[in-house]
Amino acid sequence: MNTKTLRVDSTNPDPVAIAHAAELLRAGRLVAFPTETVYGLGANALDPAAVRSIYTAKGRPGTNPLIVHVAEPAQVLNVAAAWPETAQRLAAVFWPGPLTIVVPKAAHVPAEVAAGGPTVAVRCPNHPVARALIAAAGVPVAAPSANRSTELSPTRAEHVIKGLNGLIDLVLDGGACPGGIESTVVDVTGDTVRLLRLGLIPVAMLEHVVGELATHGNREPADFVARAPGQMAKHYSPRTPLRLVADADLEAEFITACHAGKKCGLLRLPDNPELAATMLYDTLHDMDESGFDLILAELPPNTPAWAAVRDRLMRAAAIGCA
Ligand code: TXA
Ligand code: MG
Repeated sequence: MNTKTLRVDSTNPDPVAIAHAAELLRAGRLVAFPTETVYGLGANALDPAAVRSIYTAKGRPGTNPLIVHVAEPAQVLNVAAAWPETAQRLAAVFWPGPLTIVVPKAAHVPAEVAAGGPTVAVRCPNHPVARALIAAAGVPVAAPSANRSTELSPTRAEHVIKGLNGLIDLVLDGGACPGGIESTVVDVTGDTVRLLRLGLIPVAMLEHVVGELATHGNREPADFVARAPGQMAKHYSPRTPLRLVADADLEAEFITACHAGKKCGLLRLPDNPELAATMLYDTLHDMDESGFDLILAELPPNTPAWAAVRDRLMRAAAIGCA
């Protein structure tokens, strides 16, 4: 397959390009597109064969369900069998935006989307290209991050091509994704809202709306060991081995590694966690291209503000998360 890239304006995408991409989706094909978090790999969520081809292109285990994206919050009623009051409260505040809500699945949504389970994850993204595409397609769009399974999520069209060239039909290139890491995932099907994956929306903001979230493990951010099926210990990983080092030890570790003959890359984080999220995967993608033997990355503080970036880095290093 020949993968085509179409450049579109990120705030005001060309309707002709969007219509072409939407037509591909309706025809059961795969289209990667930018969201405010990372690039997604989209297929018509109501077409079982199209959804299966997402798993094939990504090399994704069939046990890991997909997020269904809708253009307008009201469209969630097309894919959910129930919309609990907590979901409504969360959606009213955080949609469109980087929050994914797990709800009971409507019967007509193919089992493949939900990896055979009774629930479906839904998200209304807040990126003009994503919203225009989903609206034009006229169907809900299943979209995991547009990378091969376990690898770094893509924040630019070039990253999508690096992993999926020849495996998908089209990439809508809307430039860099502003958020840089994935959405926060919560499950509202139980008595208490449960946190499944740390992400761009901080836990404290969610708790402001629905009260204390259930997590498993204690409430130290590092122990928010997510329960979403896709949260393997090794995930979001560069191809280059990555080691996390406390800020104070970075220099010494770097010198030791260089003395040992290793070509070593250093990943230092900006002071602001949002900025760190925006640059995280982008920098790791670049470092992966640089021929390093090892990446030494600064371990962010174990504080709520740094929880999501710390989570991604720990998974990139494949440590600490069961
Ligand atoms: O920011 C994002 O969420 C991006 C953009 C493209 O929207 N998407 C994304 O998708 O990160 P993916 O497939 O890479 O991660 C989805 C996560 C996985 O951990 C998956 O297991 C979980 O959401 N998930 C999906 N459906 C679920 C369900 N029904 N129950 C529990 N977890 C679910
Ligand atoms: Mg992913």
